[in-house]
Amino acid sequence: MKLHQTMLCMQSLLIMIAGVYEIDLDTGEVRTLTRQNEQVFSMAYDHKKRYVYVPRYSTGDIVRFPYPNNHTVMLGTIVSTIYPVGIAFDSVNSHLYWTEISPGRIMRCNPDGSDVTILLNENKPTALTLDIQNRWIYYAQQLSPSEIFRTNFDGMDKRVIIKNLTTYVLGIGVDVDVERLYWMEYYTGDLQSAWDNGSDVKTIISTNVTIENWDIDMDEDFIFYTSYNQIIKINKFLGQIPTVVHTDTQRIYGVLLYKQDGKNTSIRNTI
Ligand SMILES: *[C@@H]1O[C@H](CO)[C@@H](O)[C@H](O)[C@H]1NC(C)=O
Ligand SMILES: *[C@@H]1O[C@H](CO)[C@@H](O)[C@H](O)[C@H]1NC(C)=O
Ligand SMILES: *[C@@H]1O[C@H](CO)[C@@H](O)[C@H](O)[C@H]1NC(C)=O
Ligand SMILES: *[C@@H]1O[C@H](CO)[C@@H](O)[C@H](O)[C@H]1NC(C)=O
Ligand SMILES: *[C@@H]1O[C@H](CO)[C@@H](O)[C@H](O)[C@H]1NC(C)=O
Repeated sequence: MKLHQTMLCMQSLLIMIAGVYEIDLDTGEVRTLTRQNEQVFSMAYDHKKRYVYVPRYSTGDIVRFPYPNNHTVMLGTIVSTIYPVGIAFDSVNSHLYWTEISPGRIMRCNPDGSDVTILLNENKPTALTLDIQNRWIYYAQQLSPSEIFRTNFDGMDKRVIIKNLTTYVLGIGVDVDVERLYWMEYYTGDLQSAWDNGSDVKTIISTNVTIENWDIDMDEDFIFYTSYNQIIKINKFLGQIPTVVHTDTQRIYGVLLYKQDGKNTSIRNTI
């Protein structure tokens, strides 16, 4: 059986055409899912109800659409928010978690946007990821220096995991099986990993692209990362050669890897 692999990413240029695009990872074929004149730095997926969640930074809301689908989709606004950046879905309790960079909060709501809860206040929180098994939230900041934090699903028991980063972080992920945290450093393009307690920091690769190293997503073996106008795939193990999955004329922001049994497919998202 072949794996069905799809990738969602946000790609942008300062022009009016915008949207979420799908890239077939086998064929490289690109399909438009939505058009939206927006900056979107991350996306989340609900595997049970099959929705993609999209935080729209300047519009200040979170929209969703059904995926997979065969058509250009209609966006449904589920919640109004302020400058949302990072987003993740908790499939255990069916909750959506996100960051508001300003005034600076970690938030939660139901998949339909109801029951909006403020978990905690934070200085410029950005990327956010969930360890669903051990019930931890990890999140980063748009500060220099910045820190990576861990808190529980109620916003309590907060601690600093990674101290004194000299860069913003807009891409973060955790692999529970190997107990490791992964993040992309916005300015340096250093794709880093550490134990989920913050020790043993290692550089997987340096993109050597200064600024505009955005989001990451991953499966058991590979990390996909967006660096300026490219999506690149690299094995998580150190010392592997990266593969360029897609190069565009516009910058690419958020990326979401979608996999299911069937055939390999990929998705991307552009402004
Ligand atoms: C498609 O999936 C198969 C099975 O997992 C894998 O061997 C192959 O490398 C994938 N193709 C791409 C382009 O990722
Ligand atoms: C898309 O179209 C194909 C072929 O018509 C169909 O088999 C498939 O179920 C459709 N998928 C969705 C999500 O509607
Ligand atoms: C933070 O990092 C910078 C640059 O690496 C270094 O100069 C500074 O001493 C560090 N500060 C602390 C408190 O570790
Ligand atoms: C962090 O976790 C790793 C892996 O579980 C462990 O080997 C290490 O001792 C831990 N470090 C601290 C300071 O707890
Ligand atoms: C970035 O530069 C370093 C040092 O020159 C080099 O070892 C590394 O391969 C470069 N990375 C990429 C992705 O080209």
